[in-house]
Amino acid sequence: MTTSSLRWLLAPLWAAQIFTGAKSFTDNAVLGSERLNRRGLHVWRVKLANRLADSRRARLAGRVPAADREAFARDGFVLKRDFLPPELFRAIASEIETSTAPAREMKQGDAITRRIALDPAALKRMPACAALVASPEFQNLLRYVASYDADPIIYVQTVFAQVDRSAVDPQTSVHADCFHPTMKAWLFLHDVEEDAGPFVYVPGSHRPTPRKLVWERAMSVRASKLDRLSSRGSFRVGAKDLKRMRLPPPQKFAVPANTLVVADTSGFHARGRSERPSTRVEIWAYARRNPFLPWTGLDVWSLKPFKGRQAPLFWAALDRLEKLGLGKSPWRDAGVITAASPPVRK
Ligand SMILES: [Fe+2]
Repeated sequence: MTTSSLRWLLAPLWAAQIFTGAKSFTDNAVLGSERLNRRGLHVWRVKLANRLADSRRARLAGRVPAADREAFARDGFVLKRDFLPPELFRAIASEIETSTAPAREMKQGDAITRRIALDPAALKRMPACAALVASPEFQNLLRYVASYDADPIIYVQTVFAQVDRSAVDPQTSVHADCFHPTMKAWLFLHDVEEDAGPFVYVPGSHRPTPRKLVWERAMSVRASKLDRLSSRGSFRVGAKDLKRMRLPPPQKFAVPANTLVVADTSGFHARGRSERPSTRVEIWAYARRNPFLPWTGLDVWSLKPFKGRQAPLFWAALDRLEKLGLGKSPWRDAGVITAASPPVRK
């Protein structure tokens, strides 16, 4: 048997992954099949995942104000200025400035992202952050956009832009994170300047319109010939393609401190280019589950022994794999530090 025919022993696994969030066209020969994608496999997954997300969201709709639902349906994000009462916001900002906690760092291009998990141990020492994490207004909006009644993973995140002369941070090119609806949220702790790497988003680009689906099909057919991140399932998109899809140019979120942005990052977005070295501290949340689940709840990570511990368990699992010689964890241990202390390179 040749290596390529041996590879096809994985076919049942590849086929089963059709009904998961698996997105890489290069790791799965079924998802990456030019013939199947010409016949509409990828587009079918996009459409089904969106239909299921719409139906899950409809069930969570009663938990968020109508204005937020309308903004989300139109734009793919909800932006709320002055989100927290000023006293709570100030308490959170000073708590984050002074608290030390176990941190991890990842370097991508010339940017370093640091994350501190707001897990039960950290929240015990950070009562103001704990009040935010427990706030129904915060949780309900994140869950609505995620389309799941499941705990989002919440971190304090610091983005250090232009730390050296490495290649450009790949997050600065406009892209979709994956083929199905998914949620990321940012509560900015400082004013975000337009030239200091703000979040950017193409309003309305989360919708699977006929024109977007034409583009999705074309991308899926030539997925193996695209750049590395596109062929791994995070399609990069250019200005010409946005025009063809009748989408507007990306909008920059130069916003004041205490602004919350909750977005479906299957819509086109990026980290804006920073004109200079800069540091941005934010509370950042993320939720992604199998996009083909018909129900909103039944989340094992929301149960007692695991609740709030997804991030440290994930990091520990990556460390374990590294010790076993199965790849290198991108999330390096940065020790016990504050969110804004200078980057630790390991
Ligand atoms: Fe992204």
